[in-house]
Amino acid sequence: MKDSYRDGIIILNEEVARGIFKLVLDGNFTGEPGQFYMLRGWNGLDPFLPRPISIADVEDGRLTLLYEVRGKGTHIISRLSVGDSLSVLGPLGNGFENLHGGRLALVSGGIGIAPLLYLAKRRESKVDLYSGFRSEPYFLDEFKPFVDEIRVSTEDGSFGHEGFVTELLSPETYDLVVSCGPMPMMEALADQCRDKTELMLSMESHMACGIGACLGCTVQTIRGMERVCKEGPVFNSREVIFHD
Ligand SMILES: Cc1cc2nc3c(=O)[nH]c(=O)nc-3n(C[C@H](O)[C@H](O)[C@H](O)COP(=O)(O)OP(=O)(O)OC[C@H]3O[C@@H](n4cnc5c(N)ncnc54)[C@H](O)[C@@H]3O)c2cc1C
Ligand code: FES
Repeated sequence: MKDSYRDGIIILNEEVARGIFKLVLDGNFTGEPGQFYMLRGWNGLDPFLPRPISIADVEDGRLTLLYEVRGKGTHIISRLSVGDSLSVLGPLGNGFENLHGGRLALVSGGIGIAPLLYLAKRRESKVDLYSGFRSEPYFLDEFKPFVDEIRVSTEDGSFGHEGFVTELLSPETYDLVVSCGPMPMMEALADQCRDKTELMLSMESHMACGIGACLGCTVQTIRGMERVCKEGPVFNSREVIFHD
């Protein structure tokens, strides 16, 4: 990891679905699947904190990110143009480690699809992708070269299975499941996979520093409180203690 913020030059910042943007930065970037960058797309103190965004791809030093506009920080980033620069720190976090071999299912909820692309791409054998969306699906075409099967659910029934993505998955048919998405989805998946297969989760948490210094991003694990930005964001589901 580089330990200070530096500039990335925007070469693409395009809305690929409603409120979902693909951002590509030029700047000799590196990173492993599951790691993330802290982004600051503004000068001044509002918003005060940078925002964590996962690596969706790294190729030839170019960093691809996929983000959903949620609040002020991501809104400001969405207004930036090609040629503008962003202040970035990373790659950060542990990433998905030792995930080669065996049958692997990737399970995403909404924008949680972002970090799974780089994992699918870097794996030696193909994977199955299970993706859930509220309504309009996005980013699925990017996975096609790296997957055997794509199964999609939408909550409003506009595409694929109507309902939750977890309803499509038979965990016992996989050696490993990897997931990123909203916490309720990942908690349901942890229940579903228990005693059937291994499950690795990329956890979300509000972050301040992104480098392990502020303890603002901790989650409860069987070892005690651990930092999503440092010990995570990827945890084995057996290690995480969920709160109802
Ligand atoms: C390791 C990590 C990787 C991430 N990767 C991605 C990614 O690839 N693409 C992407 O779109 N988003 C990702 N996120 C979430 C992203 O960081 C937040 O959506 C973003 O910080 C929101 O900033 P904002 O200023 O737009 O919204 P804010 O004004 O800060 O918040 C808007 C709303 O979103 C909620 N929110 C903000 N941050 C989080 C969070 N971390 N977890 C859950 N809810 C939150 C707030 O409670 C509020 O309701 C990631 C988060 C983490 C921790
Ligand atoms: S964000 Fe500061 S310790 Fe994780």
